[in-house]
Amino acid sequence: MEKIQKLKREKKAVILAHNYQRPEIQDIADFLGDSLELSLCATQTDAKIIVFCGVNFMAETAAILNPEKKVLIPDRNALCPMASMLPADLVRLYRRKYPRAKIALYINSLAEAKAYCDAVCTSANAAEIIDRVNSDVVLFDPDVNLAKYAEKHTGKKIVPIPPVGFCPVHKLFSRGEVLRIKRMHPDAVLMVHPECNPDVCEVANFVGSTSKMLRKTLTSKVNKFIIATEVGYLYRLEKNRKDATFMPAYKDAVCVNMKLHTLEKVYTCLKNERYRVTLPPRILDMARKPVEFMLKTS
Ligand code: 13P
Ligand code: SF4
Repeated sequence: MEKIQKLKREKKAVILAHNYQRPEIQDIADFLGDSLELSLCATQTDAKIIVFCGVNFMAETAAILNPEKKVLIPDRNALCPMASMLPADLVRLYRRKYPRAKIALYINSLAEAKAYCDAVCTSANAAEIIDRVNSDVVLFDPDVNLAKYAEKHTGKKIVPIPPVGFCPVHKLFSRGEVLRIKRMHPDAVLMVHPECNPDVCEVANFVGSTSKMLRKTLTSKVNKFIIATEVGYLYRLEKNRKDATFMPAYKDAVCVNMKLHTLEKVYTCLKNERYRVTLPPRILDMARKPVEFMLKTS
């Protein structure tokens, strides 16, 4: 950790980490957050190097917003399977097929897919962004569950294209299991990420992105929470509310991709300035527009 801090100062680097990172990575991060907060942070830093401890689409977003900076990822294999479920070709096809339709993509998508959409959103702002898209019908991908959640909170018709994308980690939560835990702890607040199936969201006391969950726990008088999202997030919640108990709704809900980054890899990443996240200039330019649309409205 000391070596990382020293290198970071020498190289004028900053470490951004997602809420699902290993505890030791959370501890060395200069900034910890959800997808929206990390995107905003990437626009505000004056560091020359950004070390991104998250999955590919998050590091790509930082690169889209900072073409002049070096964005590095400690492990190149940290890929989000949901983002891989939407090939860019499919977005291009829908763009051609429905030239007047508006397309919104979840930030959990590849830069080459974002390049062909009108707006990007995260789980923290999906409803607000879709409300601002200038059309009553919005094509949306890749997360079908987030599409359903957003439709419930907007006056718009949201059409998933095609209706198949999901997060393999959030799919692990079942209504039966969360209800069983809730029965055992009737005084606890059940918090669910909108990537979970709608029948799980339906029985939640609170549905929101990781940043929204944190804010909720900080202002709540309750001191017992059941958390239906990736288990690594409990470390951050516990650190911020030492008086409260946080129970995972499913203890094996682990995003293995998020856990690929280790302290050793962060150190070599900084030392050798690799692996750099690079994208073709045309994709960078095209994808910047829908990402900036989101940031302007956040
Ligand atoms: P958040 O934006 O809520 O952190 O979610 C990102 C993610 O990948 C959830 O699986
Ligand atoms: Fe992708 Fe799911 Fe992992 Fe989030 S938790 S990065 S959506 S696989």
